[in-house]
Amino acid sequence: MNKLVIKGRKKLYGTVEISGAKNAALPAMAAAILTSEDVHLHGVPHLADVTTMVDLLEKMGIKTMGYKGGHENNLIKSSITLNTSGMNTYEAPYELVKTMRASVLVLGPLVARYGKAKVSLPGGCAIGSRPIDLHIKGLAALGANVSIDHGYVNVTAKRLKGAKIVFDTPTVTGTENIMMAGTLAKGITVIENAAKEPEITSLAEQLTKMGAVIHGAGTDIIEIQGIDRLHGCSMDIIPDRIEAGTYIIAAAAAGGEVEVTNCNPRHLDALLFKMKEAGIEYTETDNSVVVKREREAWLKSVTIKTMPYPNFPTDLQAQFMVLMTQGDSTSIITETIFENRFMHVAELRRMGADITVENNVAIVKGRTRLTGAQIMATDLRASASLVIAGLMADNVTELSRIYHLDRGYEVMEKKLSKIGAKIERVKV
Ligand code: EPZ
Repeated sequence: MNKLVIKGRKKLYGTVEISGAKNAALPAMAAAILTSEDVHLHGVPHLADVTTMVDLLEKMGIKTMGYKGGHENNLIKSSITLNTSGMNTYEAPYELVKTMRASVLVLGPLVARYGKAKVSLPGGCAIGSRPIDLHIKGLAALGANVSIDHGYVNVTAKRLKGAKIVFDTPTVTGTENIMMAGTLAKGITVIENAAKEPEITSLAEQLTKMGAVIHGAGTDIIEIQGIDRLHGCSMDIIPDRIEAGTYIIAAAAAGGEVEVTNCNPRHLDALLFKMKEAGIEYTETDNSVVVKREREAWLKSVTIKTMPYPNFPTDLQAQFMVLMTQGDSTSIITETIFENRFMHVAELRRMGADITVENNVAIVKGRTRLTGAQIMATDLRASASLVIAGLMADNVTELSRIYHLDRGYEVMEKKLSKIGAKIERVKV
């Protein structure tokens, strides 16, 4: 097990280069199931979740070339080629799915291409129950036969038939699963109340490169015209907007002047709007944001409510909460997406934060000086928020269980050290 040791109150100066998006790379890899030809993905991040997806696909007989997992291979720009000619099973086993819910993304492609899939129900995770009922209802609407037993969902279909699907709530991976399934269905599939995240638009672009006919990705109505087969493609993974947002918040929290580059500011409008409201100076170009905060003055306390894209992302809620401990009054943070996404609060309290939680609302008192402590990561984005807290705190913070962090952030301690943070990974 490793921990991060952070000596706080060091201002940050320099440039952070953002890696490829985890939540774009995972569906991009699953989409390779839809074709017998090579799929080349460029700019894939080296993350534990990507390694898990590689393991899952290889377990099914898919050849994956060019990706070396593991922390030491922290090349920022790496490519992976996938080929399904060796496919021999159509199952996503519990031991892999329980570690990464996004394994469910193989469901739609498997049923569409092979007419069968057996995928472990993901079960809950730290941040919530994470059901996949909408994925299942969508596939059933496309004519698949679905049964659930012994913790697995079994799906079979002769050939999926296009249909109209209306999601009760926008689901990112649900939209991705049905969009992929619809590409090989007979006829037209319409998804209403679709998720609109940039990762959806990027997946639609990749599927189009593979020959699919898709309209409306990025809006709440997506239309997919099914065809008989898809061909291979070459695709660049879009920058990770959540990683970029995390470093933008870290720079505002620690102070200094930091350029966050290889990112798309247009994917961060909701965050940047709140940063401006909080009184943080920043400038932007097409592919970077520069954050500058020299003065020690308190920020403006602002209120946020997490909602589906393009509103404030739930994946930046924990990070922004840490920043609001530096507000000038009180900030109200409402989490509407997941039912248990405040686990970072207990750890922040140990560092002196004054935060009270009532159901899905956190009340964050400003004007707080955080102090270093021994704390524990609980889930991916909470762990990032605790690193930011360590950067701001007096003295030393030791953060354990950082395997959560490695799921979604490429060598965070190296990227932060490069801009002046006193942070190191220590084996325990
Ligand atoms: C995706 O998860 C992301 N993961 C999450 O990022 C992100 O937090 C989430 O979208 C919301 O933006 C990937 O893209 C791999 P949802 P997903 O389906 O698709 C409910 C990270 O930190 N729902 O959009 O699993 C669900 O309970 C991760 O990188 C159902 O009720 O989330 C939630 O309340 C964490 N039934 C809401 O919809 C379903 O069948 C949104 O969930 C599916 C979802």
